[in-house]
Amino acid sequence: MKFQVQAEILRNRPIAAGYYQIDLRAPQIAAAARPGQFVHVRIPLLEHRVLRRPFSIYDADPATGRLSVIYKVVGEGTDVLSRRQEDTADLLGPLGNGFTPPDDPGVQPVIVAGGYGCAATYLLASPRFSSRRPLCLFGARSREDLLLVEEFQALGCEVRTATDDGSAGRKGFVTELLRELLEAPAACSLKVFACGPNPMLKAVSTLVLARGLDAEISLDHAMCCGVGACFACVVKRKAETPDGWEYVRTCTDGPVFPASSTVWD
Ligand code: FES
Repeated sequence: MKFQVQAEILRNRPIAAGYYQIDLRAPQIAAAARPGQFVHVRIPLLEHRVLRRPFSIYDADPATGRLSVIYKVVGEGTDVLSRRQEDTADLLGPLGNGFTPPDDPGVQPVIVAGGYGCAATYLLASPRFSSRRPLCLFGARSREDLLLVEEFQALGCEVRTATDDGSAGRKGFVTELLRELLEAPAACSLKVFACGPNPMLKAVSTLVLARGLDAEISLDHAMCCGVGACFACVVKRKAETPDGWEYVRTCTDGPVFPASSTVWD
């Protein structure tokens, strides 16, 4: 079930250069939210223009009704959002299918995240959704772009990091950390969850499928309506059709898909 609410902005603050965390009071959405789902936020701009933008849900606390989102200021909409305080925001959510929380005690969940994609996986690591603490592999361009490491560690997760410039963790791509993990003898008992830029997701998919495993990947795709009406977010998925694929909507059929079903053009 999804809800449209006027949510009180509790706090809206920078957490790193260019990145913000906004906390909202949205009890219905916080109670219903699952790992990997998102909300659509209505952002009023100048001259009566309005944007709706999708944002992954970072944290949700049913006890207090707090819903948190982490976002990066990348354009007019997020710039306007970053300056809103002591106000309300029009929210629609929770939307999308989300990840399948890991519940097999014999399988080690592994989160692979690029940039602030880690925010969309935070609830996966929450004891509310999983009795297993995921191993987290986080990649970013540099130390300043590595977010939420301490927050995941506070949940009991081991976090391994990689940065493009080597300013924190391993120098290189996060997929190198995954490659090493998959080469270990116990790799067959891993379940991978990934969120980040599509090139990273494609590399993750290639690695896990080559090992005979699968992964749940949260596709990064532009959206408009967020509720399945406009078809602005379609992607190809493997299917038993004459072409071998079909179109699906990222907003309602995803954003999470099995790596094995994804068609990379
Ligand atoms: Fe409109 Fe997905 S964003 S159908």
